[in-house]
Amino acid sequence: MTGDLYHLDDLASRERLDAGHEIPARLAVIGCPVAHSASPRMHQPALDQAGIAARYVKVEVEPGRVAEAFRRMRELGFIGCNVTVPHKFEALAACSRVDPAAAEMGAVNTVVFGESATCGYNTDGPGFEAAVAEAFGLPLHGLDVLIAGAGGGAGGALAAHCARAGVKRLVLANRSLDKIEALATHLRGHHPGLPVEVLSLADPDLPSVARGCRLLVNTSSVGLKAQDPSPLPPESFSTGQMVFDTIYQPPLTAFLAAARAAGAETANGASMLLHQGIHAFRIWFPGSDPAAAMRQGLAAG
Ligand code: ATR
Repeated sequence: MTGDLYHLDDLASRERLDAGHEIPARLAVIGCPVAHSASPRMHQPALDQAGIAARYVKVEVEPGRVAEAFRRMRELGFIGCNVTVPHKFEALAACSRVDPAAAEMGAVNTVVFGESATCGYNTDGPGFEAAVAEAFGLPLHGLDVLIAGAGGGAGGALAAHCARAGVKRLVLANRSLDKIEALATHLRGHHPGLPVEVLSLADPDLPSVARGCRLLVNTSSVGLKAQDPSPLPPESFSTGQMVFDTIYQPPLTAFLAAARAAGAETANGASMLLHQGIHAFRIWFPGSDPAAAMRQGLAAG
């Protein structure tokens, strides 16, 4: 089976971790819970295709133990790891060196255990940008972008990436305003020329503001459950818009369905999952081309 499931305690020794396996575990995704992660389905086929003798495994790590997990993986000679919910902030703090883009996004999802440093990166931003380019054929640069649910970790990270990518205008919308006001202040400080607006999801002006944006993105958790409503009212959508949901399960959320009904172009988070994975693999193995193997692995389910 791809992506064997371990616990932090299994990182105690090579004997324990690799019992019953010829190939050593040298890459992992850590999270809590992590059993559902699709990452092994992408990374193992890419490793196999490249002829790299390494298993990519899942390791469940409780909150507060990320630094310990890194220390143990380093000691066992791991190449690196991916980091998923809820550890992306703790991972940033546990790295001895952090890529400037990841530092601004406030989150790390990819780690390299180098000789002298544990280095943190964030491939969610570049993965999102590649997914938007693939789905809609446009770069983020110069776009008017609205992020719905910008108060969570994913929203903050994508907002920071949009700002760095040179969007023309950024609208942050959220159920509660406190978190996005803090985020807007932070972004304005780092990107003085960028107009950053803040809006409640309940604001009566939201639909008209949204219709004025070319790219609408859902980063809220609204839509994960099949019966969830769209985080934006149906009047927010119009033809000519590009509408992206970071959720990929279910594949057609109420957000995307409402956008399609209004004639907008839509894409879900499946391609972002793929592209953040491609970027991570290339950080571990510069010059590699894992895209085809990863696509196949994901499609095989
Ligand atoms: P995190 O990613 O940091 O774990 P989360 O609790 O999963 O955060 O929430 C992600 C986003 O979904 C947040 O923007 C959250 O809005 P708040 O900041 O107001 O909590 C949003 N969200 C979650 N449930 C929601 C709901 N029922 N309606 C609207 N937005 C919601």
